Amino acid sequence: MAITGDQVQPPAGKKPYVLPRELLDEFLRDGANQRVGPYGGPLENRARLLFEVIAAVSEVRGSHRVGLRISPLNSYNSIIDSDPIALARWLAGRLNDFDLAYRHLLRADFFRQQKGDLVTPVRENYRGVLIGNMGYGADEAAQAVATGKLDAVAFGTSFLANPDLPARIRRGATLNPANPATFYTRGAAGYTDHPALNA
Ligand SMILES: Cc1cc2nc3c(=O)[nH]c(=O)nc-3n(C[C@H](O)[C@H](O)[C@H](O)COP(=O)(O)O)c2cc1C
Repeated sequence: MAITGDQVQPPAGKKPYVLPRELLDEFLRDGANQRVGPYGGPLENRARLLFEVIAAVSEVRGSHRVGLRISPLNSYNSIIDSDPIALARWLAGRLNDFDLAYRHLLRADFFRQQKGDLVTPVRENYRGVLIGNMGYGADEAAQAVATGKLDAVAFGTSFLANPDLPARIRRGATLNPANPATFYTRGAAGYTDHPALNA
């Protein structure tokens, strides 16, 4: 199996190595996890590493300080699943056992390869705090929280482009657009140079 992730620049004279930052997703999704044995095959096996990691971290910090973000629809780094909705639904039910601080859900796919409603089945099956993310504006976020669809919404790119995002939302002010050309680049451009209101 190919290891995906960020290649880390090594110290001089050492070989480069790859940091598999989507490791738990690689185990969970059957497009990436081709293992046989206790960590491959049925969902229970593919989720084994995730549950072991949650249990280990919870033992150290307490589960109420552990949050989980997994994005079953997102095909980033070509990690896909044959049935992401079923995976999300099953996982939502099983995560009730862990009493986590929150479950964070990226509701869509960056590359729009995989589509479906993840939020409804996860909400129906997960009893803990549910945070939604991806493509929310202030109005949709407020509505999702008001109707109980989500407990909170996380903003990514609009926070990147608006250092004062909460103040802007409160005032109904126009938002700075984010600049995708600067995403995943080095340096301050696109990260710390967007103007605040009255700046
Ligand atoms: C520059 C940039 C870097 C990101 N890095 C990560 C990351 O390392 N891990 C991750 O899970 N999501 C990462 N994301 C995704 C965001 O956390 C968020 O899910 C995404 O921007 C969708 O939310 P939005 O529609 O509010 O922007 C990144 C997004 C951007 C724009």
